[in-house]
Amino acid sequence: MTKICCIGAGYVGGPTMAMIAKKCPDVQVTVVDINASRIAAWQTDDLPIYEPGLDEVVKEALGRNLFFSTEVDQAIIDADIVFVSVNTPTKTFGEGAGFASDLQYWELCARRIKEVSTTDKIIVEKSTLPVRTAEAMERVLHSGDNPVHFEVLSNPEFLAEGTAIADLENPDRVLIGGHETPSGQKALQTLVDIYATWIPRERILTANVWSAELSKLTANAFLAQRVSSINAISALCEATEADVGEVAHSIGTDSRIGSRFLKASIGFGGSCFKKDILNLVYLCESYGLQEPADYWRQVVIMNEYQETRFVTNMLHNMFNTIAGKRIAIFGFAFKADTGDTRESPAIKVCRKLVGEHAKVVVSDPKAIENAKLEMPDLLDQIDFEKDPYAAAEGAHAVAILTDWKEYKELDYQRIYDSMAKPAFIFDGRNMLDHQALFEIGFEVYSIGKGLKTHLK
Ligand SMILES: NC(=O)c1ccc[n+]([C@@H]2O[C@H](COP(=O)([O-])OP(=O)(O)OC[C@H]3O[C@@H](n4cnc5c(N)ncnc54)[C@H](O)[C@@H]3O)[C@@H](O)[C@H]2O)c1
Repeated sequence: MTKICCIGAGYVGGPTMAMIAKKCPDVQVTVVDINASRIAAWQTDDLPIYEPGLDEVVKEALGRNLFFSTEVDQAIIDADIVFVSVNTPTKTFGEGAGFASDLQYWELCARRIKEVSTTDKIIVEKSTLPVRTAEAMERVLHSGDNPVHFEVLSNPEFLAEGTAIADLENPDRVLIGGHETPSGQKALQTLVDIYATWIPRERILTANVWSAELSKLTANAFLAQRVSSINAISALCEATEADVGEVAHSIGTDSRIGSRFLKASIGFGGSCFKKDILNLVYLCESYGLQEPADYWRQVVIMNEYQETRFVTNMLHNMFNTIAGKRIAIFGFAFKADTGDTRESPAIKVCRKLVGEHAKVVVSDPKAIENAKLEMPDLLDQIDFEKDPYAAAEGAHAVAILTDWKEYKELDYQRIYDSMAKPAFIFDGRNMLDHQALFEIGFEVYSIGKGLKTHLK
């Protein structure tokens, strides 16, 4: 029986391994983590992350061929294949601070694997890593006098939070990079065979290790660039009375452009886009490529501009003062269908609103606890209220910051009636029926369309 160990039981390691275990009952999968409470939660009905459909996948395989454990060393020793899916955040200190990837967790794993292994293993980079990390890892793994052979593969993960299960079950493609040596190709084939259990072979792409590593950073940079591109146009729309929804639709029907990731919004969030682009910027700079670095950096600058512009618009439209005004935030997760709040635009918006002395009330169906963790210094200045109706009561404004579908289905007449007047709605996700809201009596601001007002 093939044995897989995955180090890192987070948003990627947990769902990915659960899917492999579900699809390959003859493969034993053990997911390990140093975070004992996370490991415990994976074995309960209350999983540590919210992801539609995840419960059923875990339930099917848990205890059969899917195990969660804190016994990292033992799982490595037993495994034929070790996936490493630990976090690779942006470095906050020293050289490359604010841009480069912090590889300390990754390197610790490599050292641990080297220390305890007694048999040859395939090591799979699942984390998103700078291009050529495999080379550094191979040096760590093969340092000293351990005769064990390690073959490093790159298998970046393309799942999106909120649709992780569908993405894993039916991916556009799986990408596996391996060395062009006989042992590299053999290892690569082993991993291809596992995915081929449920994914058509033509969707399993193989490449060299460096291309696979760079493809992941490139994919995220391109996706984020589309968001920043349409957001740049949204600012111009507001200045010219063009409608960003119409522009996006018009260009999205061009098959060369395509319709996805063209929704103007308050900006992208999540743990990956910003960190991966900054990592790309750092990589370009470290190879002396200043213009490519500047080109990609601008995608992040544009995103920050959009967040700031949203708050500035709130302030200006609410008569240049929001001090003492209650503002209900609808949605704190970085997008719908996840409780993840990492790098959520809502963090910056809330901080800026508190900076203006607004009374902020945060509402979210799944992310209230994470929201509290994001703003530990503001807990006495922000209220948290799961029920959106209660959050909006007495508020001067509602700001929609996450595209939860339940926000489309609220009774906005009831919300309007309970609010201070004039009642504002700032739709940071362009997801509501603005004409209907306007007819109820709201002052309605939406991105790339500006303010619809009754106050002339
Ligand atoms: N979140 C996403 O949507 C997504 C998508 C694709 C790729 N990725 C990449 O996947 C990687 C993991 O992301 P994530 O969102 O799952 O992160 P995460 O923070 O949710 O999970 C990482 C886990 O690794 C554990 N860990 C850290 N060091 C460890 C060690 N030495 N031994 C054992 N466990 C250790 C942490 O305790 C944590 O639980 C990152 O490189 C990320 O860029 C993320």
